[in-house]
This record gives sequence, structure tokens and C-alpha cells, in this order.
Amino acid sequence: MSKHIVLLPGDGIGPEIIDATQKVLIHLSNNFNHTFTFEKQAIGGSAIDLYGTPLPDQTVTACKAADAVLLGAVGGPKWDQNPSNLRPEKGLLGIRKTLDLYANLRPVKGFHALLSASPLKEEIIKDSDLLIVRELTSGLYFGTPSERIENGNAVIDTLYYQRYEMERIIDKAFQSAQIRRKKLTSVDKANVLESSKFWREIVEEKKLDYPDVEVHHELVDAAAMKLITNPGDFDVIVTENMFGDILSDEASVLTGSLGMLPSASLAENGVGLYEPAHGSAPDIAGKGIANPIATILSGAMLLRYSFGMESEAEAIEQAVDKTIALGYHTADLNINNGKCVTTNELTEMIIKHI
Ligand code: IPM
Ligand code: MG
Repeated sequence: MSKHIVLLPGDGIGPEIIDATQKVLIHLSNNFNHTFTFEKQAIGGSAIDLYGTPLPDQTVTACKAADAVLLGAVGGPKWDQNPSNLRPEKGLLGIRKTLDLYANLRPVKGFHALLSASPLKEEIIKDSDLLIVRELTSGLYFGTPSERIENGNAVIDTLYYQRYEMERIIDKAFQSAQIRRKKLTSVDKANVLESSKFWREIVEEKKLDYPDVEVHHELVDAAAMKLITNPGDFDVIVTENMFGDILSDEASVLTGSLGMLPSASLAENGVGLYEPAHGSAPDIAGKGIANPIATILSGAMLLRYSFGMESEAEAIEQAVDKTIALGYHTADLNINNGKCVTTNELTEMIIKHI
């Protein structure tokens, strides 16, 4: 198959982890007789520096024409004081909204060799294998007004959801549960928030369409606790944008490092965007020590969800498994008797195992 992939390296460690993943994808395409072409476009702080905007028009045009998009990370202290329309994060939120990438899938699976790398007890995390389905294009991140008011003495953000926005992500989560262990935990704050009451009602309506899926409701504070005390109880978690952002960083602890967590952001019909769940890690940018695994695994998700290449995706995932099982890791992880290597060395090791 011939496929065109747009790369959005972004800021901080973004360019390093995107280069690593591109190498893996090129190697894989040779092995499986595919032709992948690549095109780099700017987003985030680096786009602000080059073009004066975090999301240039040409980036949007290229993404819309692509078969899939792979993104590194955006943001950094250099742009922290910028006004909100010139924040790198605006570029990321803008591309999510423009491509209508409402469904963010974040699989969290412990690696055997990394059990000891987690600050949590091995026996608690050893069976964790869950999927967070996060709503990505609405809620507090996008509601208006969102501004300082009353002469700067007050502030307002808006949590706005339309019924269809809740319905489509809840459907996506039920469907994801159907092909997993058929257990769905819907996370909300229905004891306080009107939006959560509405969310819960829609989950109750929708569950009639998926009788094979067992549904639980959990308040977000309790879910946050159970995620680290009983992670094995979860299969699919569905939640709104902000709660999903927070819970997915928390869940990454189960894998030993946020540097291991991939994600897929999908539209109903249209191009998908794949990115690690972590940020741009400006403190280690350019040092060649960043963990490329979350992005490489996002590349595997890209092959699976956008190109239907299941065996190819598995080839990458198994190569990552083998590399970790051999004890190779980057500096963000602390593995007993492991070998700490650079981004490039780890990438070469993964390529060798494909
Ligand atoms: C994520 C990130 C982003 C988010 C930031 C960089 C805007 O934390 O993808 O989880 O909050 O969605
Ligand atoms: Mg986040």
C-alpha cells in the first residue's frame, strides 16, 4: 500500500521522537512492501517562531490531505508568557477541533519488565490493561466565554457540551468495550455538575444498544483513587475532555513512565492523528535521551486504525516488548539491572527486533 503521512514534530523533544518513529515506520514499510511518504509541517511554538501562528494554514491543508498525521508534542517555557491565542497549545487544540478528532483513545498496559519501574506495588499493577476513551473536542477546553471579567477581578471558563458530542464518544467507548473485556466505566461528577448528570443519562440511554457490555458509573474523585489502588478492575473508561486529560496522566504511572503512553485521536470519517500522551519535556530537549516509545507505539496505532495494518502494528508492539524485556530503556525509567541508552540506541534496538 502507498500512504502519505504528515509529521508534526512540534517543540521540545517532539522532533527527536518523531525522527525515531519515522525511522521505525520506514523500516517497517520496507519489510512489509509498503510505500510510506512523509511530509513535515509546523505546529505549536516552533510554528509561532516561523510563521507567527501556532497552527499555520498550510499545516491544516496538509493534514486534511494526508492519510494520517503523527504529532510529537507542543509547548515550552519560551512561549509561556504569550497571550492565549499565541500559545503553542492553541495549535494542538486547533488541529484537534479542525479535524473533528473527538475520540481520543489512550491504551494503558503494563509491560512485564517495567513492573518494578512503577512507584506502585507490582502486585497491584501487574494485571492492569485498560483503555481510556477521552472526549477531545469540547467541554472546558473549548467553551466560550473563557476570559478574565469584571476588570480582571474574576474569571470564567465554560463547560459546554451538546448531546451529539456526548453520544458519539459514548458510542465509541461502548464499541471499544465490545471488542475488549466488555466492561465500561463511565466517569463523571454527577453529584455536582449538570453536565455530568446529562452525561450519565446518555450513558444510561446508550447502554440499551449494547446489552453485552457491563456498565459502571464512577465519580471522578473515586475513579482517580481506584485507578491506582485497583487498576485491574478497569477495562474501558469513558469520560469528558478535562477528566480524561487528568486521569490519563495518572494512569501512565501504571506503565512505569508517561513516556510509554501512546494515543490515537479519531474523527468519524476523516484523517486520524496520533501522538504520545506526554508533553514536550523542554528540560531534556536536544539531549538525545528522550523516550521515543510512546510515539513509536502511537505509530503502531496509526497503522492499525488509519491503515488497517494489524500485523504491521503488532510487529512494532512486539519489537517494543522485546526491547524492553531485554532491559533496554531511556533515562525516564528505572529498571533493575537494565541498560540505560539514548533515544537513537533504543530506536535502533526496536528496529532490529521488527
Ligand atoms: C494531552 C496534553 C494536552 C491536553 C495539552 C498539551 C493541551 O496534556 O494531550 O493530554 O491537555 O489535551
Ligand atoms: Mg494531558
